[in-house]
Amino acid sequence: MCGIIGYVGHRPAVPVVVEGLERLEYRGYDSAGVAWALRGRIHVTRAKGKLAALKEKLAASPAVTATCAMGHTRWATHGVPAERNAHPHLSNDRSLALVHNGIIENYQELKAELSARGYVFHSETDTEVLVNLIAERRKSEPDLLHAFARALREAHGAYAVCLLDCAEPDTLYAARMSAPLIFGLGTGENFVASDIPAFLPYTRRVLFLEDGEIVRATASGHALFRLADLSPVGREPQTIQWDMQAAQKDGYRHFMLKEIFEQPRVITDGLAGRAAPAGDGVLLPELAHLPVPARLHVVACGTSYHAGLWGRHLLESWAGIPVQVEIASEFRYRESPRFGEGDMALVISQSGETADTLAALRLMKERGMPVLGLCNVVGSSIAREAQAVLFTQAGPEISVASTKAMCSQMLTLALMALHWGERTDTLEPARRRELLELLRSLPALLDDNLPEMHATARELARKYAQARNFFYLGRGHCFPLALEGALKLKELSYIHAEGYAAGEMKHGPIALVDPSFPTFALALDDALFPKVKSNIEEVQARQGKVIALTNPGMELGTDDVWRIPRLPAPLSAFAALPALQLFSYEVADYLGKDVDQPRNLAKSVTVE
Ligand code: F6R
Repeated sequence: MCGIIGYVGHRPAVPVVVEGLERLEYRGYDSAGVAWALRGRIHVTRAKGKLAALKEKLAASPAVTATCAMGHTRWATHGVPAERNAHPHLSNDRSLALVHNGIIENYQELKAELSARGYVFHSETDTEVLVNLIAERRKSEPDLLHAFARALREAHGAYAVCLLDCAEPDTLYAARMSAPLIFGLGTGENFVASDIPAFLPYTRRVLFLEDGEIVRATASGHALFRLADLSPVGREPQTIQWDMQAAQKDGYRHFMLKEIFEQPRVITDGLAGRAAPAGDGVLLPELAHLPVPARLHVVACGTSYHAGLWGRHLLESWAGIPVQVEIASEFRYRESPRFGEGDMALVISQSGETADTLAALRLMKERGMPVLGLCNVVGSSIAREAQAVLFTQAGPEISVASTKAMCSQMLTLALMALHWGERTDTLEPARRRELLELLRSLPALLDDNLPEMHATARELARKYAQARNFFYLGRGHCFPLALEGALKLKELSYIHAEGYAAGEMKHGPIALVDPSFPTFALALDDALFPKVKSNIEEVQARQGKVIALTNPGMELGTDDVWRIPRLPAPLSAFAALPALQLFSYEVADYLGKDVDQPRNLAKSVTVE
């Protein structure tokens, strides 16, 4: 996830763009840059690190008089955070500059074609490929609009892009495909940005670009076209009522809620470039040069640990790899854990900075074990120190409680299991195809169902918010989800909650059950449903109230039955996870707790 902004109008454009980038910095902050065109040349200033570094560079140069400019704040997906990878990127002939949010999946093929024609690349980004493709297509198209559209039709993936041409210094071109892009209409000035806050001080009149649309804008007007055939699109602008704070949260009350609702997009991004739109192949070049592990040691903390526990089920059943999952703070102090020939470690961390996970990584490296990292933050310590890294591409997670990051970790673990399953011949091609089809269906399924899940969560939260204790029960792949549900409830609402393997209840914990101690049971339609149903009946026999999270058609006589869409196990976890998150969110909000910044917690735990 990155932030882009373009401005064309009557003011000095660079300060407007930099101010807009400040309001987009939540979308990424490992490097930033701006470009403007003046006297037939494109000028670019870029800097690694937070926006402050770019501002310093700009302040040291003479003030820019250009009234059209564009900017970018980066969250690395291709290439490490570095100035050479920062946007804007220039075409080889320096006539065009491009900023881009998203991923061009077929950039390697396009790069090969352009390299054969003599183009050279100075960065590792897909964006530099795209800007050169536009320059190349311009040679055979009547104008830049046609060249831009043609290049975008050839590029597969998700993008929001903004383009500047040295020959038209007062015109911006922008386009969108599966990444947000909003056009802002001012008086004598126009804007394009990844998010409304970028230009909210100047205008509230907006046009939401749709997938496959291109806009061309000058200070005095704009024209909107369909990418497919450049036919014009007529759409009336809307007026936004949000204040700045609401706009940064996309209109959601909290970042946590926004991030829960981002999960369909996170899955789409996580599949991009890794699972071809059809077929049974999973592309994970990060793993290609490594052997399939004989045994995998997964080490992580908190929510990332729960993702690891869930991933174990897939890695074992789809790839036949024995997996051990451990809490990093325990692992690092265990006496000489024995590693065998062919063992591999996998450390999972959203931030890539968690002190215990990092220490565990170093320990395993010292003992000669190859260590894979599964991280969200490019350039983080774990990403740098692991021998190979898979990035989860969830974008910055602002809310302290982790939500979309777990979804992205689960997705990447599923892809790893499919990849290794293919190499170990554990999964038949037909089964792989079926599983990939299911993964591809998740974004639409969640988009359709999240609003109703949210409404149910709100209703149940009001009913159960006064409880002082909660059990969360699950079996099999739902046990890690029970742990995660309990963690979310306790960290957000400060209600004591315990996640338990449902079959363990009778070995002690069931003694706690009484009418004031409710249970949230994960009773999804899978092979273990009859067992979970018996465990629920045991709780009910002790007058315990039960919310059962289940699927349509499953027979359960609990106080509350919450039915979510059916998916085959273990992928049903992708529907259960947001239900658990939404329930905790709603309880905490109803109790008036600080949802995005719960007491005593920090987003990144860099101390032991
Ligand atoms: C819970 C939560 C934490 C983190 C844990 C590990 O909502 O956010 O439990 O999951 O601190 O953090 P990372 O994944 O950054 O290593």
